[in-house]
Amino acid sequence: MIKPHGSDKLNPLYVMDAKERAALATEAEKLPSIVVSSAAAANAVMLGGGYFNPLTGYMNLADSLRVATEMRTAKGLFFPVPVVNVVKDASAIRGKKQIALRDPNVDGNPILAVMDVEAIEEITADQMKLMTEKIFRTLDPKHPGVAAFTGVGNTIISGPIKVLNYSYFEKDFPETFRTAYQLRDQIEKLGWNKVVAFQTRNPMHRAHEELCRMAHKDLNADGILIHMLLGKLKPGDIPADVRDASIRKMVEIYFPKNTVLISGYGYDMLYAGPREAVLHAVFRQNTGCTHLIVGRDHAGVGSYYGPFDAQTIFDTEVPKDALLIEIYRADNTAWSKKLGRVVMMRDAPDHKPEDFVNLSGTKVREMLGKGMDLPVEFSRPEVAHILMGYYQAIDQKK
Ligand code: ADX
Repeated sequence: MIKPHGSDKLNPLYVMDAKERAALATEAEKLPSIVVSSAAAANAVMLGGGYFNPLTGYMNLADSLRVATEMRTAKGLFFPVPVVNVVKDASAIRGKKQIALRDPNVDGNPILAVMDVEAIEEITADQMKLMTEKIFRTLDPKHPGVAAFTGVGNTIISGPIKVLNYSYFEKDFPETFRTAYQLRDQIEKLGWNKVVAFQTRNPMHRAHEELCRMAHKDLNADGILIHMLLGKLKPGDIPADVRDASIRKMVEIYFPKNTVLISGYGYDMLYAGPREAVLHAVFRQNTGCTHLIVGRDHAGVGSYYGPFDAQTIFDTEVPKDALLIEIYRADNTAWSKKLGRVVMMRDAPDHKPEDFVNLSGTKVREMLGKGMDLPVEFSRPEVAHILMGYYQAIDQKK
């Protein structure tokens, strides 16, 4: 099986032993504590599940700056984005060696993790600007990832953590939320060697479905991991439970049995385009996948990134030996009016632009928002039915 990123064995930061976990949870109640940002909580969930292997906790300022600018920690580990715990006010924990991190996303702010504090540092305005620009390629406060990254404060708390639970993800998505170590086990049990991961934050429209099918066939893969984001999204994106239901229905009807694993991970969307694509590759390698599909405007938002920037970063900025996982590059995928099916544009060189119906999640959301039926070019009817039910329910609430 493909090795995790940066180590021979996966080292998840979740406290596996139930007794040890319960004892630590009791101890943690006596520690000084701080309610962390949603992004920091999501980082803890990802660290706990082994997705951010081989990190042992939150990065300090020097690592964060170097990761933002060069995609390397101070010790030289390749990592695409800083994994940080940034707060507005650290006065409650100043001078403390060990602290408890409280979950902002669960009622009563229960303790999510215990942290050994190595440093508490202030990020200057120039350092914040530099990191933001490097990660997001923009400083525009309207960019939802920039707003989230720059809006949580300037004090960075770093050090190793031990994770006690997976926030709201286990309870809200019991069938779908899986850790990297669970997925590794599952892939191993299935006997899959070549596994292609599909990242998504959308219910899958026809282009998404065909991308999975094409990658599976072209790579001669044993299986596909459809791996959906279950954390926070920008307003207007479709909630995780609705996406989950649509994806399950689509796979049940249109994919052969035992070729697709459906699961999700607990992380808030960064909308960082190219950098997030590299992060996606890192954590799919940690789940045991050998390939990741990267298509048009992967992890993008608005028009901040060129349609294939998330592919070119793997040629221009990711050193050859940095990752073991490979990228399956998908061209723009659209419905061909001539052929009556979804094709990748590079496979239809005789087509003119007007021969295609362009498919995108944004367009699907716009049509549904206006109460329009989704044509077969856009969506499987069974998926359209689930999505229309969701949009009608929001309409009634208005
Ligand atoms: S993402 O933000 O999670 O990347 P989305 O769920 O829309 O968004 O996309 C999942 C994957 O499908 C990404 O790799 C994206 O590039 C790819 N993709 C989506 N639509 C198309 C399309 N029409 N043509 C090519 N690739 C696409």
